[in-house]
Amino acid sequence: MRLTIRDIQKMKTAGERIAMLTAYDATSGHLGEASGAQMLLVGDSLGMVIQGHQSTIPVTLDHIVYHSQMVVRATERTLVVGDMPFMTYKASVEQAMNNAARLMQESGVGAVKLEGGEYIAPTIDRIVEAGIPVMAHIGLTPQSVNQFGGFRVQGKDKDTAERLLCDAQAVQDAGAFAVVLELVPAPLAQEITNRLKIPTIGIGAGPYCSGQVQVFHDVLGLFPSFGPKHAKRYAETGAIMETALKQYVQEVQAGEFPTAENSSTMNEEVLTEIRSHWR
Ligand code: KIV
Repeated sequence: MRLTIRDIQKMKTAGERIAMLTAYDATSGHLGEASGAQMLLVGDSLGMVIQGHQSTIPVTLDHIVYHSQMVVRATERTLVVGDMPFMTYKASVEQAMNNAARLMQESGVGAVKLEGGEYIAPTIDRIVEAGIPVMAHIGLTPQSVNQFGGFRVQGKDKDTAERLLCDAQAVQDAGAFAVVLELVPAPLAQEITNRLKIPTIGIGAGPYCSGQVQVFHDVLGLFPSFGPKHAKRYAETGAIMETALKQYVQEVQAGEFPTAENSSTMNEEVLTEIRSHWR
């Protein structure tokens, strides 16, 4: 049985912290579920960590549908959330509803996530009304990185902090079941978490949120030269993989792999017979 948005909301009420990871394919989906995380996000961060872009902007709905299908297929228990990519929900409420419906119907995700606060609340309201659970995302919203002028902490001054409080309230009132707070000062994230009934899921928002979300590649240290301040590298998986792959290449070149153990044999008579045919 998969966890539902109600299970996630009950965790906030019970004071239990929620863990969420990104996942992009069957391998990360399987590992994410095995970790015990309650939610997996098929994030448009795949544009950066899978596709090699500098931002999430080139990601399309087709990409998210494709990657979500793999994660859903690899999991049984986790609530899988699919990210709505850049400009797939902001042109009109109808556009947003059609695309959210497509993502859910074609991939099997249990919820969708979209970026934006008060101005996107009417869209959230309509999508939720149509039966599609929505996770909101405020603070540093990566799809607007060009507008923000970089990946900067949001809500440090009075005006922007008040804006974030209004945004958080608006997405809750519109029916979002949870809200991601990205790159928000920890005391402001605490204030928002205390004011809201719905869970807050922080990334770079300090320890007082109802839960945390982290990018799979950051947690595993898959990129040797990249690690955002808000992430903790729990393993140097990239270095381990590189060492293993180099050893494989060396062994192939040295004729040490494969050995008899990695190979199969065949009947000598068959071999003799085919040799006689091919002379
Ligand atoms: O796309 C993503 O991975 C995200 C999380 C970092 C919140 O939006």
